Amino acid sequence: MKDEIALLAEALHKSNHTVVLTGAGVSAESGVPTFRDTQTGLWANYRPEDLATPEAFARDPKMVWQWYAWRRQLLATVQPNPGHIALAQLQDIIPEFTLITQNVDGLHQQAGSRDVVELHGNINRTVCSDKSCSGQPEPGDKREPPWCGICATLMRPDVVWFGEAMPELAMRIALAALANCELFIAIGTSAVVYPAAGMAQQAAAKGAIVAEINLQATSLTSAAEIAIGGPSGKVLPALITFLAS
Ligand code: OAD
Repeated sequence: MKDEIALLAEALHKSNHTVVLTGAGVSAESGVPTFRDTQTGLWANYRPEDLATPEAFARDPKMVWQWYAWRRQLLATVQPNPGHIALAQLQDIIPEFTLITQNVDGLHQQAGSRDVVELHGNINRTVCSDKSCSGQPEPGDKREPPWCGICATLMRPDVVWFGEAMPELAMRIALAALANCELFIAIGTSAVVYPAAGMAQQAAAKGAIVAEINLQATSLTSAAEIAIGGPSGKVLPALITFLAS
């Protein structure tokens, strides 16, 4: 692992613009469940189509709202881990850095990362079901979900559900960064959900070096020039130490 960390440090030194794409694995060491880990992943206990689709919300808005409320409560009890903190430090020591995340937990921002590109939204925000309306619930509305104070439709978590488009601005920033970067690092993602899953290939097509940090092999591993098998909460601080030495 030490050799791969040295290789990644060298690639970072040579790169003018680095893109990091993170997934649920980055928050695992904070105690946030991932989606696809066999025993502990959220999708081991729940079916995505029952909870994370517009159809599920239309069918049973209360159940979907309560599931997100439960995840929000869990998040209120966790802290960024050394992996999040190392990524925030990395932003300060390399020239141009774009952090794209599929995570909705806000832990990168809590750790100090700036301008985080949130591809799948943020669970701590609530929006009106009619996304063109900027409404919020009336204060004191205890219904689950509450209703929009302007257009009287249901409020929902500001996350991307299966079958929905990515937020336009986040996608635009991500695509521009992918077209320009010289190094792309995927961290803690199983790389199965598009468009994020295709980003390594998009960056590579423009000539970027692809690196991966993950506990397990993924569909990206064999094509990555640098593949580090280990927990991001250990690998990323070790990388910062190496860069500082
Ligand atoms: P997954 O749960 O699919 O994958 C988590 C990845 O993190 C796996 O490849 C694990 O091996 C790896 N991992 C676990 N712990 C790790 C650690 N400590 N260090 C490094 N790697 C670790 O999560 P995502 O790839 O983020 O979307 O899932 C992508 C999307 O699918 C999510 O954003 C969510 C989900 O359905 C929506 O809800 C729309």
